Amino acid sequence: MTVARAPVILLYLLCYGIVGYAAIAYGLLPLGQLVNSTMQATYRAHPVGIYTHIVGAVVALSLGPLQFSARLRARRIALHRWIGRTYLTGVAIGGLGGLYMACFAYGGPVARFGFGALAVVWLYTGARAYTAIRRRAFDLHRAWMVRNFALTFAAVMLRVYMPASAAAGIDFDVAYPIVAWLCWVPNLIVAELAFNGHSGKRAAPGSSGSRSAFVK
Ligand code: HEM
Repeated sequence: MTVARAPVILLYLLCYGIVGYAAIAYGLLPLGQLVNSTMQATYRAHPVGIYTHIVGAVVALSLGPLQFSARLRARRIALHRWIGRTYLTGVAIGGLGGLYMACFAYGGPVARFGFGALAVVWLYTGARAYTAIRRRAFDLHRAWMVRNFALTFAAVMLRVYMPASAAAGIDFDVAYPIVAWLCWVPNLIVAELAFNGHSGKRAAPGSSGSRSAFVK
């Protein structure tokens, strides 16, 4: 099924916008230059954890959108496989780094549990997607990949909600622990409803019960 171009273009712009932000903020600037002083001190105390997280996560966010192209899968399946392996390696490295950094996250226990839970489900859904495709369970693989990428997209939503909450006059310290959950739980719900065929309509027998891809 072909979906409208505009949401797909927006998806690419948002993903590569955050990739660009991370590349500049963590590739060119001194560590923690663009975050508050408490977060900066945490990052400087755990440079391996934060850089491991960001490098793995940037790989995942850069490659993830490409994988939903039905055209790429149809014409260049070997490329899809290699991008997929690299994406999941990024998820594994970024997820372990994220889980470690969640222990020190700004915003207290609510934020720490929010990011920690996100890391665990990110790693889990990635592992399920991988084991599904090793068993050649294509529909299952696609469904777990949709969930996994919805979680990768948390990086985008976090950086949409935080400026939006600041614009709405909400204090950073109030918004941050809430956004640690808000950046990923709704993504998973939308992924299930819109792309994994759990919108209440019954799937045709033998189908995955879902849209075949985001893009044709
Ligand atoms: C989806 C699972 C993810 C988890 C569990 C996670 C977790 C975390 C945690 C705990 C921190 C430290 C926050 C703090 O100290 O308060 C952090 C920071 C950061 N993460 Fe992630 N993250 C994830 C995805 C991503 C992705 C996909 C990117 C891609 C760019 C990313 C980029 C960053 C960056 C750049 C920072 C530094 C803060 C900033 O400059 O905005 N993360 N992440």
